[in-house]
Amino acid sequence: MIGFIGGTGPEGRGLALRFALAGEQVLIGSRDAARAQAAADSVREIAPSISIAGGLNTDVAAQSDTVFVAVPYAAQKPTLESLTEELRGKLIVNVVAPLAFSKGVASAIRVEAGSAALEARAIVPDATHVAAFHNVSAQELLSPERALDTDIVVCGDDADAKRSVIALAATIKGARGIDGGGLENARYCEDLTALLLNINRIYKAHSMIKIVGV
Ligand SMILES: NC(=O)c1ccc[n+]([C@@H]2O[C@H](COP(=O)([O-])OP(=O)(O)OC[C@H]3O[C@@H](n4cnc5c(N)ncnc54)[C@H](OP(=O)(O)O)[C@@H]3O)[C@@H](O)[C@H]2O)c1
Repeated sequence: MIGFIGGTGPEGRGLALRFALAGEQVLIGSRDAARAQAAADSVREIAPSISIAGGLNTDVAAQSDTVFVAVPYAAQKPTLESLTEELRGKLIVNVVAPLAFSKGVASAIRVEAGSAALEARAIVPDATHVAAFHNVSAQELLSPERALDTDIVVCGDDADAKRSVIALAATIKGARGIDGGGLENARYCEDLTALLLNINRIYKAHSMIKIVGV
């Protein structure tokens, strides 16, 4: 079971849709059960045959083996602190990019721990942490007819966990999972999100990345 904490946002819904289309059972989490249900219904409207349900973040974290953290950076610490029991022993996939916006321009926030992913590991040390999907556009994910033509860089220190997330990334049409090394490297993927958002603004596009030469 794959669960999404903060799964009612576009990134959570988009990834949930793509994984459910690949045959995974997916749960969308929220602080509000009705909002989670509405988000699950909205995703099912796009793809009626998929297996998807909604629930409170607490229940979703408890019921899932793989738990995506898809909340804004400012919400990560309090959210994870409230779920430490439910997340013990789980595979946590962190998609959080710490960003600030000024006059529409995005910039990466400096995080004391080094990155959102490293901060998450410090808050929930008895889970396995992988960071990935930072550079994938939610809008593109939510258009299931589209092949993404992108690479998804996956960072983590547990080889088996990283392999399973690379394989999960490859279930998204047109996407390839790339081994990005240890969790320390997550900071580069997080920061790159700011650049992509600024490129999006200039080109009125949904830019993503491709690693060449690999
Ligand atoms: N959007 C993208 O294209 C994209 C791409 C790559 C990475 N990301 C990253 O993915 C994460 C999610 O992105 P998003 O655009 O989906 O975010 P979002 O819409 O701003 O937020 C996602 C969900 O987080 C929950 N949330 C918001 N504030 C909260 C708080 N103070 N405490 C607890 N929960 C809170 C909300 O769910 P409830 O109100 O239902 O609880 C909300 O629907 C972000 O960290 C972002 O940097 C986004």
